[in-house]
Amino acid sequence: MKLYLDTANVEEIKKAANWGVICGVTTNPSLASKEDESFETILPAICNNIEGPISAEVIAMDYEGMLKEARELAGMHKNVVIKIPVMPEGLRAVKTLAQEDIRVNVTLVFSVNQALLAARAGASYISPFLGRLDDIGQTGVELVRDIVDMIDLHDLDSEVIAASIRHPEHVQAVALAGAHIATVPFKVLEQMFKHPLTDLGIEKFLSDWEKKEAAHKK
Ligand code: E4P
Repeated sequence: MKLYLDTANVEEIKKAANWGVICGVTTNPSLASKEDESFETILPAICNNIEGPISAEVIAMDYEGMLKEARELAGMHKNVVIKIPVMPEGLRAVKTLAQEDIRVNVTLVFSVNQALLAARAGASYISPFLGRLDDIGQTGVELVRDIVDMIDLHDLDSEVIAASIRHPEHVQAVALAGAHIATVPFKVLEQMFKHPLTDLGIEKFLSDWEKKEAAHKK
């Protein structure tokens, strides 16, 4: 399973890029609205810091408007992937864009049927939102597993991006559920490194080393 960063914050992207574990980024209008700079400034900066797919979402909700925005965004950098919500006008746009070799990430997916429709329209990526399903008392990880199984069973080409990830347990659960990609907030990525036994282990190794060094100097 590949890891993407779920943010529009360029500083977070630079830090995560240095750790060498991230190979893509997803953004959405809510994430972009948290940043001071315009999205037209942010998007090229993201593309310059990560060599991999960068999802940028359309705001238009009509077919022609989506195509116009998608072509503009895709024209900004070869790695831009267009994010379009799963809806009839959206999937019509996905089909047209796929014919133009513009990759689309179909977003706001909450059912296997929506994922099937997205795959049939030609989506390169499908994003089920597990955290938001958990919020309404359903089990997001199960949806991710079902969509992955359906894609495999019917030999479809779309990759599944587990989105709306809220904590490290979500990441390990979707990895085991077979998601192709998990897009994780920066805070969750930091938490993934952590284990109290790792911290204790480092502390012990260093203190034992220092004791030995001190004994040699005597
Ligand atoms: C990414 O593609 C999604 O837009 C994002 O993960 C949604 O996360 P949220 O449900 O925490 O807003």
